[in-house]
Amino acid sequence: RFHAVIPAGGVGTRLWPLSRAAAPKFLHDLTGSGSTLLRATYDRLEPLAGERVLVVTGEAHRAAVCRQLPEVGDDELVLESEPKDSGAAIGLAAAILHRRDPDTIMGSFAADHVISPDNLFQETVREAIYTAGTGKIVTIGIKPTHPSVGFGYIRSGAALNVDGAPNALAVAEFVEKPSQEVANKYVEAGDYVWNAGMFVAPVALMLKHLEANQPELFKGLQEIADAWDTPQRAEVTARVWPTLPKIAIDYAVAEPAAAAGDVAVVPGTFRWDDVGDFAAIGRLNNAGDVDEVTVLGEGARVFAENASGVVVSDTKRVIALIGIKDVVIVDTPDALLVTTKEHAQLVKGTVDALKASG
Ligand code: GDD
Ligand code: MG
Repeated sequence: RFHAVIPAGGVGTRLWPLSRAAAPKFLHDLTGSGSTLLRATYDRLEPLAGERVLVVTGEAHRAAVCRQLPEVGDDELVLESEPKDSGAAIGLAAAILHRRDPDTIMGSFAADHVISPDNLFQETVREAIYTAGTGKIVTIGIKPTHPSVGFGYIRSGAALNVDGAPNALAVAEFVEKPSQEVANKYVEAGDYVWNAGMFVAPVALMLKHLEANQPELFKGLQEIADAWDTPQRAEVTARVWPTLPKIAIDYAVAEPAAAAGDVAVVPGTFRWDDVGDFAAIGRLNNAGDVDEVTVLGEGARVFAENASGVVVSDTKRVIALIGIKDVVIVDTPDALLVTTKEHAQLVKGTVDALKASG
């Protein structure tokens, strides 16, 4: 039985000041489709999971998430008092699902990616589910376009010959966020793919690797999961959750499980973008025409003459651009960002510096 999980927690600092703690990336429509990234993620999973979709998010986002996903009932909503990274979020989902039905195959999918078309995504995930059924943690591989240091890298091995999953391969190595030097080497070598941030696996196998590699995290999550569907949930969660170690699932499970030979990969044939910065928004909204200005935002009034780039406007102000190339302008009521597409990756550093300066 397949059960989808959507961990929705990252802030998406590179998209400041649009994406912030109070309104993170997954609550925005970044493609002009009319759907937030979270809503689009849910809709994409519906043909695979029906309403068996567990959403893990922060207490602070409860109202916004429920507004986006009115069909998510109490049993399918897991609220965190504070962020403990994807290890705890996905690990808790695995532990709760395991307690409800130990034979469940779970699939965890990031809430903040742009994917198209949906039917190719669903075909790939179906292959991943068949492969997971043979006792593997299955990742989805994306062909790298540049030596990014923001992704996990997967070196694939031999074909697994799984019924229903003709493209599944064994994974020889999983390396989360390598250094620049190593990423350059991997992309040059040509036999690495990016990890798309999706994990399809029997819940028991996820927990087995969590227990082996993060025993403290496993023990805490197990205690919470045991109390989850009982009147003790609030008391146990309040006591245990703050003590949990903060670690990403990629380090806690994917790397060590790959070293143990328990990870597989199915190549993703769909278009995938993790919308890492404002340059990505330009790419996604503008079919390669570099001389255009991409405008996102309700009611934004932008006049451009001899100008190109991205404007995201959260205000009704009139914005005029004249003779300016590859600009990024993000206009919100309390903060204004002006940079270029080329420098869009540096936004995170600026936000960190702003925070440090109070
Ligand atoms: N509920 C909850 N709580 N969710 C969280 C938390 C948290 O504390 N922290 C992260 N998440 C969610 C994010 O919202 C996202 O859906 C998923 O977990 C992955 O976390 P990110 O923080 O976005 O990870 P990343 O982008 O640095 O790296 C991951 O994704 C890459 C692809 O975009 C890794 O899996 C990489 O290997 C992968 O290449
Ligand atoms: Mg991410």
